[in-house]
Amino acid sequence: MSQSIRGPYPTTRMRRVRRHEWSRRLVAENRLCVSDLIWPVFVFEGKGRQPIPSLPGVDRLGTDQIARMADSAVRLGIPAIALFPATPIELKTEDAAEALNQDNLVCRTVRSVKKHVGDSLGVICDVALDPYSSHGHDGLVRDGYVVNDETIEMLCQQAIVQATAGCDIIAPSDMMDGRIGAIRKALDYGGFHDVQIMAYAAKYASAFYGPFRDAVGSAGNLGTASKSTYQQDPAQSDEAIQEVALDLAEGADSVMVKPGMPYLDIVHRVKATFGVPTFAYQVSGEYAMLSAAAQNGWLDRKRVVLESLLGFKRAGADGVLTYFAEEVAQWLVE
Ligand code: PBG
Repeated sequence: MSQSIRGPYPTTRMRRVRRHEWSRRLVAENRLCVSDLIWPVFVFEGKGRQPIPSLPGVDRLGTDQIARMADSAVRLGIPAIALFPATPIELKTEDAAEALNQDNLVCRTVRSVKKHVGDSLGVICDVALDPYSSHGHDGLVRDGYVVNDETIEMLCQQAIVQATAGCDIIAPSDMMDGRIGAIRKALDYGGFHDVQIMAYAAKYASAFYGPFRDAVGSAGNLGTASKSTYQQDPAQSDEAIQEVALDLAEGADSVMVKPGMPYLDIVHRVKATFGVPTFAYQVSGEYAMLSAAAQNGWLDRKRVVLESLLGFKRAGADGVLTYFAEEVAQWLVE
């Protein structure tokens, strides 16, 4: 008799399948692969690489670095990059006119990526005015308020300019009401039926964007102003569902939730409710947190990064925008 006098013991033993590595692999429900990664890349007007102090390990890339970056993405199998320009301060104006310049930094970068690697790599561009405006807001400001409809007129033109440069996916990150429908119409009217729209659908007014604003040089422009009159209140959940429903009805091909880690509940709700391509943005502040802890030796960089990205998959994301993309892709192909 092996039955102990202290029995009975459980018949269901959850630990049985966890005992060996082969078995844990066999039952795994979620997996992270290179195809899940979107790599956000900062570019600047000049040559070489510029470190970004609040994003240790991430550099702004000069025009001579673009080909190498695109080659690396293709070689690693990363499906898409998202380009963000650090516009020279002297080109930033109240009306953000540089956003509509066919030869602005982001348009030239898109053209050089496309010329170099063609359709082997998807190129995503943000549609919003903050990299170009002297006030750092995503839209036009009238009497201290970011105005909706007038901003949309400009965003439509910005989308056309980027599509003309060869951008594959237009990603409106501005949170104006009705912009997806207007941009879709503008793109179709311009003959860009096949240019996708990835809507920053549920984008929160978050304190986690700080290092990004350093990276594109908009932090000084925005100062202490907040984006709370257009980005969502972190207290809201149902509102995110309504935002996604609107963007889908207006023609978005895919939707994004942003930030990522503190908003996995939203990722899960969006995927469960709509069943459409759903992305999450592990934003600059999330990168900075994990990197800083790893630099101090408090966390194991590789393990926490992989765990955080698997968390997005488990929540329902089809892919993640992450500044760790290149590094993670290297780990995954090793
Ligand atoms: C611009 C934009 C922001 C981010 C992506 N696009 C900043 C903001 O809304 O202020 C943030 C990304 C990040 O923090 O990594 N509209």
